[in-house]
Amino acid sequence: MKKRLAEQMNSEVRTRILITREEVEATVKKLAAEITGDYRDKNPVLTGILKGSFMFMADLIRLLDFPLEVDFVRLSSYGRGRESSGKVRVLQGLRTPVKGRDLLVVEDIVDTGLTTAFFLDYLRKKKPASLRLCALTEKPSRRQVLVNIDYLGFTVPDKFIVGYGIDYDEKFRNLPDICVIEDDG
Ligand code: IMP
Ligand code: MG
Repeated sequence: MKKRLAEQMNSEVRTRILITREEVEATVKKLAAEITGDYRDKNPVLTGILKGSFMFMADLIRLLDFPLEVDFVRLSSYGRGRESSGKVRVLQGLRTPVKGRDLLVVEDIVDTGLTTAFFLDYLRKKKPASLRLCALTEKPSRRQVLVNIDYLGFTVPDKFIVGYGIDYDEKFRNLPDICVIEDDG
């Protein structure tokens, strides 16, 4: 059988499938149904955090058949590699005026929670009518600050994950499945 892309991409860093593309698809569908129930008449602004959320956002909004707007922000929290620097900065903010709008933040992963907590605070100051968070994955074992996730896809173990938009050193975003980096030892 032909090896899945995940296994052939990089001979030095090995990855293993944690969540298949089929499971991702089913879960995105489930999230879209929940979000539709809550936002159908609200013309919400879905705010993705780049770059990790781009694929999730693209799949999610195709399943939402009501008026909405999309914007993206670019934040920095991670340098290269796997460790959080803990400091978050807004590299590119929102272009959409969001005062009085219903905002839904779309994130790839809530790990320590520092990035999302910072960003939710930043948005709250812009006085939206409502503010909620949709996260594809979360790693509860690493949480440092409390973050309430209104729409959650998957809880993942304390491993470094890649694929479906999520990177390790800018690589592996194109894997269609959510994978883990295999430890050497
Ligand atoms: P937090 O501030 O620690 O919650 O980290 C949030 C950001 O760190 C996410 O948006 C990701 O971009 C990145 N991140 C955290 N854990 C992982 C991981 O396992 N793989 C890839 N990126 C991660
Ligand atoms: Mg991210």
